[in-house]
Amino acid sequence: MKVQGVHYRTVWMEGPVVKMINQPPIPHRFEIVEMEHHERTAQAIQTMVVRGAGAIGATGGYGMAQVALEAPEKGFWEYIQRGAQTLRSTRPTAQNLFYAIDRVLAEIERHRDDPRLAREAAVAMAQTIADEDASACQRIGEYGEQLIRSGMHLSTHCNAGWLAFVDWGTALSPMYAAARQGKKVFVYVDETRPRCQGSRLTAWELGQEGIPYAIIADNATGYYMKTGQIEMVIVGSDRIAANGDVANKIGTYTKAVLARENGIPFYVAAPTTTIDPNCPSGDQIPIEERSQEEVLYAWGWSQRGEFERVRTSPEGGAARNPAFDVTPARYIQGIITEQGIVEASPEGIQKALGR
Ligand code: MRU
Repeated sequence: MKVQGVHYRTVWMEGPVVKMINQPPIPHRFEIVEMEHHERTAQAIQTMVVRGAGAIGATGGYGMAQVALEAPEKGFWEYIQRGAQTLRSTRPTAQNLFYAIDRVLAEIERHRDDPRLAREAAVAMAQTIADEDASACQRIGEYGEQLIRSGMHLSTHCNAGWLAFVDWGTALSPMYAAARQGKKVFVYVDETRPRCQGSRLTAWELGQEGIPYAIIADNATGYYMKTGQIEMVIVGSDRIAANGDVANKIGTYTKAVLARENGIPFYVAAPTTTIDPNCPSGDQIPIEERSQEEVLYAWGWSQRGEFERVRTSPEGGAARNPAFDVTPARYIQGIITEQGIVEASPEGIQKALGR
């Protein structure tokens, strides 16, 4: 995607340094940050400097490549295992993170007796993962675009766009493809409390692409569905179970149930790297619980031109903050993958995996 005419990926590696778009200040400030050590890369995932299943997956892959580059000859394999553990423990839900770490780790293990070769192989594999992700997301756009008629009013939740993957994104990729073909699309963007990935990131991305949108409070989605103003929903996913159940940003389940109630097609867009074939159903997907501070406070750009936090709840108040929920497969019209649009069912999942 282009930002003010310049093409960027959300994360990339130059030498031993992982570079990424710093997501918390968007839409107010666009900046690139550099992580010189795998521990800093892990911290960037944990603190959501980089977020979104695919973006943290690619970052995890690059982080593993850094681990290999840093590892001393003596105790090479022990360092690799410790580094993998540090990266793994950053966030629990997005399958892409574990997919990327495991794939680079397997490559290092293949050459564990020759650290020089292992380092080269790790960097090459991390790059392959990022490149494959970018082209899978482009294919998702091509398949998903076929579902979109010109003039359609769509809806999405959280940010499943370019910022959430290496390039293109998942849920937004079909919208970008449709718009680039000259179709008119309008997007209702859920604000997505508490971290506001919708109002901050999705709105900003759509603006960069010149796609008209309206940010709506999360609890307004039912109103727009019931009054016929939303015709289709596309969301992304952090992990898809073998039976077609889908974990995504908290609030997705509510939206899917409302879509069913109102006869609105509800699609999930995700590459096959988001599928966890070892997870039989959504009940086994680990759901991250984040700090209550995210709910008790809101962040924003003040009129003084500063990034500020304000309390929106009573002093000493308590909150709960699950970051994801699971939408049962029965609410999902189809899963848009790079292999085509498949049914959210065990058969559909097998088909997407080419089995
Ligand atoms: O907590 P986040 O911002 O990492 O959550 C992101 C989402 O839930 C996205 O919808 C999801 O990653 C799918 S798009 C890659």
